Amino acid sequence: MAKIAVLPGDGIGPEIIDEAVKVLKVLNLPLEMASAPVGGAGYEASGHPLPDATLQLAKDSDAILFGAVGDWKYDTLDRPLRPEQAILGLRKALGLFANFRPAICYEQLTHASSLKPELVAGLDILIIRELTGDIYFGQPRGRRVATDGHFPGAEEAFDTMRYSRPEIERIAHVAFQAARKRQGRVTSVDKANVLETFQFWKDVVTDVAKEYPDVTLDHMYVDNAAMQLVKEPKRFDVVVTGNMFGDILSDEASMLTGSIGMLPSASLNTKNQGLYEPSHGSAPDIAGKGIANPLATILSAAMMLRYSLNDAANADRIESAVKDVLAQGLRTPDIYSDGTRKVGTAEMGDAVVQALQK
Ligand code: IPM
Ligand code: MG
Repeated sequence: MAKIAVLPGDGIGPEIIDEAVKVLKVLNLPLEMASAPVGGAGYEASGHPLPDATLQLAKDSDAILFGAVGDWKYDTLDRPLRPEQAILGLRKALGLFANFRPAICYEQLTHASSLKPELVAGLDILIIRELTGDIYFGQPRGRRVATDGHFPGAEEAFDTMRYSRPEIERIAHVAFQAARKRQGRVTSVDKANVLETFQFWKDVVTDVAKEYPDVTLDHMYVDNAAMQLVKEPKRFDVVVTGNMFGDILSDEASMLTGSIGMLPSASLNTKNQGLYEPSHGSAPDIAGKGIANPLATILSAAMMLRYSLNDAANADRIESAVKDVLAQGLRTPDIYSDGTRKVGTAEMGDAVVQALQK
């Protein structure tokens, strides 16, 4: 019996998680699912975005199905109490270093992209973002009075960008192995022309590449990568990069598809324990209206079956069911266009269930 921690979170989180749970239940798998509050909901329940009981449940599970966290009403809290800290805390506590962020342009949604259809038709990029290192977690960090720099004596803030060889090696292995199952191409994104950390990144990735002679590696500076993503996105297959650059480039890539409401993500540790969440946020402006797109969360559940529960067959079934409902013309408002049928969150989830039962 696999254990799943279900963490709905805030905003549209609970609504979209309901639909993913519905889909998992209809598959009749040996899953034990237990829910717990996280983010703003965790703060409301026990004064912390990642309550101890929630963290314990996550640690004891094979996988975490995560909705979304955040709401404007928590913006005034001290940083350690803000909803986003829950996701950072889970990444750190479980060592979820490998973040998979696919950017896929679905055939029926090609016109929804802000780029010309011919640039994005058939787009299928996999961004692999290192998730537990870099300037996000590097110590030391903080505020102090400057003793040097342009304004000695002035108040200043600082963070530390750093990567160790094993941290870079393990994410590079993840990227090369993923590329083997795809088009066999890896683009490593760095800023080696300026940053010591990313010259080292480039050197280590180049070393690891020697173990994968069947995979083509190229290197790209992050500014150029940002440009190439909108100029010629289909040139990319697997993109591997650090935490900070990956945060930015994965948002950019998701927008190319015109349907951030469709994109799942996975964050894995060395034991294949994983956290699965939609790439989009908690969208508090539409929470409770029953109009959020549940497909990214349903596809995240499919990724969960594939990566943490070793059940590729059922992952394929869910992914086909999602393509099926798109082909039927069903659309939540975020992906709606003339000639299709507008449906709400639950109706979309029900349609996926029906497609699975066919
Ligand atoms: C993401 C988010 C998080 C990040 C925030 C919410 C901490 O932007 O998952 O990309 O910066 O990693
Ligand atoms: Mg982000």
